[in-house]
Amino acid sequence: MSAPVVTRGLTKRFHGGQVAVDAVDLEVPAGSVYGFLGPNGSGKTTTIRMLLGLIAPTSGEVELLGEPMPKAHLRVLPRVGALVEGPAFYPFWTGQANLLRFDAADRTADPKTRKARAGEALERVGLSNAAGKKVRAYSLGMRQRLAIAVALMQRRELLVLDEPTNGLDPQGTREVRHLIRDLAGDGTTVFTSTHLLAEVGQVCTHAAIMNRGKLLRQSTVADLRAELRPRLVVRTPDLGAAAETLQGLGVTELKTTEETVEGDPGELPIEKFAAALVAADVRIHGFGLERPSLEDTFVALTGEGFDVAE
Ligand SMILES: Nc1ncnc2c1ncn2[C@@H]1O[C@H](COP(=O)(O)OP(=O)(O)O)[C@@H](O)[C@H]1O
Ligand SMILES: [Mg+2]
Repeated sequence: MSAPVVTRGLTKRFHGGQVAVDAVDLEVPAGSVYGFLGPNGSGKTTTIRMLLGLIAPTSGEVELLGEPMPKAHLRVLPRVGALVEGPAFYPFWTGQANLLRFDAADRTADPKTRKARAGEALERVGLSNAAGKKVRAYSLGMRQRLAIAVALMQRRELLVLDEPTNGLDPQGTREVRHLIRDLAGDGTTVFTSTHLLAEVGQVCTHAAIMNRGKLLRQSTVADLRAELRPRLVVRTPDLGAAAETLQGLGVTELKTTEETVEGDPGELPIEKFAAALVAADVRIHGFGLERPSLEDTFVALTGEGFDVAE
């Protein structure tokens, strides 16, 4: 089976000449939860709009569920649930009424099963109890979950979500994260963009990192983690002597802060460093390996611009 999302050389140049998406090659494996990361303005939404055929690429190709887009959109889009820039709900209608309205506008949806499917979708996103409430009274998290319910009104092979936790409080964020995990558990491929790095380690199996329209990395989260090299951190008042000793043992990327000397220890076992420091009369107040987080990697790849907080 081909990957549910494939792009080749996907490029979007807006009027005025700005290249928002620059020769991007994506490959989203079936069954993955694929985190599409990047700081604001890096081209995530523009890419997603091209995936769904909402805007035309300047050049390059998109294949969704094995079919070329936008050419095959009538066949493909009914199999894809999408959340891009949240749908507009009628505030004075109930959540359920809004869902029914969206489904009624979908030519591929069966009106006979509409109510039952709405009930299931609401259950799925945890809004059963609020189904009869006016959307006006919904919290932001509830509205976002209702938007996801719209995408879940039919069985989908692929879900494309653009910043599904945008504007949510930590509770709402957790709810959406659990929902994504559940959906993936059922075999749905989930492609989700985010500028929140905490999401990735927690739900994603794969990650792609965008910066200024370019795809910097695309790999499994497990591979990204495996690449994280531990750093040796020595807390000491004898900074100069410690740095000299570590350098002598081949520690690279040495950095001295007010209380620590840190660096990449390479392959040497860490007890060698401890012994050498003691032999050099360096007073050791703290000593150990610190593993950087996935978030550190993303920030290192893109420079500033990521929201690291949850
Ligand atoms: N319709 C448009 N016309 C011109 N420039 C746009 C348009 N939409 C987005 N851009 C620009 O393209 C770049 C990428 O935007 P976007 O895809 O929204 O990034 P992201 O979703 O990663 O925040 C930004 O610099 C943005 O200003
Ligand atoms: Mg965006």
